[in-house]
Amino acid sequence: MTETVHVGLGDRAYDIHIGTGLLDRAPDLIASFLKRPRVAIVTDENVGALHLDALVNALESQGIATTSLTLPAGEATKCWAELTHVTDWLLDEKIERRDIVIAFGGGVIGDLVGFAAAILRRGVRFVQIPTSLLAQVDSSVGGKTGINTRHGKNLIGAFHQPVLVLADTGLLGTLTKRDYLAGYGEVVKYGLLGDSEFFQWLEGNASHAAEGDMEARIRAVKRSCEMKAEIVMRDETEQGDRALLNLGHTFCHALEAATGYSDRLLHGEGVAVGCALAFELSARMGLCSQEEPSRVRAHLRDMGMKVDLTDIAGELPDADGLLDLMGQDKKVQDGKLTFILARGIGQAFTTSDVDRDVVRAVLQDSANAG
Ligand code: GLY
Repeated sequence: MTETVHVGLGDRAYDIHIGTGLLDRAPDLIASFLKRPRVAIVTDENVGALHLDALVNALESQGIATTSLTLPAGEATKCWAELTHVTDWLLDEKIERRDIVIAFGGGVIGDLVGFAAAILRRGVRFVQIPTSLLAQVDSSVGGKTGINTRHGKNLIGAFHQPVLVLADTGLLGTLTKRDYLAGYGEVVKYGLLGDSEFFQWLEGNASHAAEGDMEARIRAVKRSCEMKAEIVMRDETEQGDRALLNLGHTFCHALEAATGYSDRLLHGEGVAVGCALAFELSARMGLCSQEEPSRVRAHLRDMGMKVDLTDIAGELPDADGLLDLMGQDKKVQDGKLTFILARGIGQAFTTSDVDRDVVRAVLQDSANAG
């Protein structure tokens, strides 16, 4: 069973296929993009060990030659040195402008390889085959590519849309529960920012999806991709509405910086905590009733996810320290923090009109929760 979501971006439009068995169907789905029967695949050690043979065998059995590069797994791979490594390798492999590069992995591989494709010979086409839930619902869609530098995450990059995304939900079965739930932080974000019916559906079905119900997984990934596609079609380069996708991220980025971007807090876990805090802040500012943050928290707790600062292992800076970290966020404009707040579940909006004292109180209460 597969579903398709179309991202209508004119001459950069593409389809996202979602479902099981897509690695086997990759040759058919990619064939129409090939000017010659040869692709370059970049993956990481974890995904490579589990799934690279299946992809290579599927492609080669249909007469498509492959060459592949396997990089170390982990966020540290999204760096200048690995970007040089990938681009030099693609040039060594004589990958030409008309060829296709495949990014086969989670968000790190998608962002790095997408950026390499954006700059190689001033731009080659690439296909995303995301293997983590987070990459399937967020990072593989929408064309944001890039690397981290010592100044922060994703500060060097380009908008470069893939020509095709194959989100094989069958691959999610090899994720750890923690990685799956971290990706779920981005799924729940879509319901919270713009679709209360989807959030309600998640309240009833997300636990089945987490346990492996494939129909529920496909529906969750599909609705997430539809929502992301709708927003990206309205605002591809984040001049306005695309910022809504950053619900929970102002808090999340400060918490990730405070925890050293380590496995104390995975990105999607930070997004979930950030969403709970953004709803709490919205209620305290009188934008929505207290029932809304309570409902958000209850669902995240039901899923076994982190909700409060007390759920993050180890010491954290105090509320003022976290506010200072928020001040380094990419979204700061004229020295003012930008938050995505909500008038209710599914009704998010962007504002810089937020009182620092109220944010401090929300952080202090979350640090004393329990
Ligand atoms: N992950 C946020 C965006 O793609 O805009």
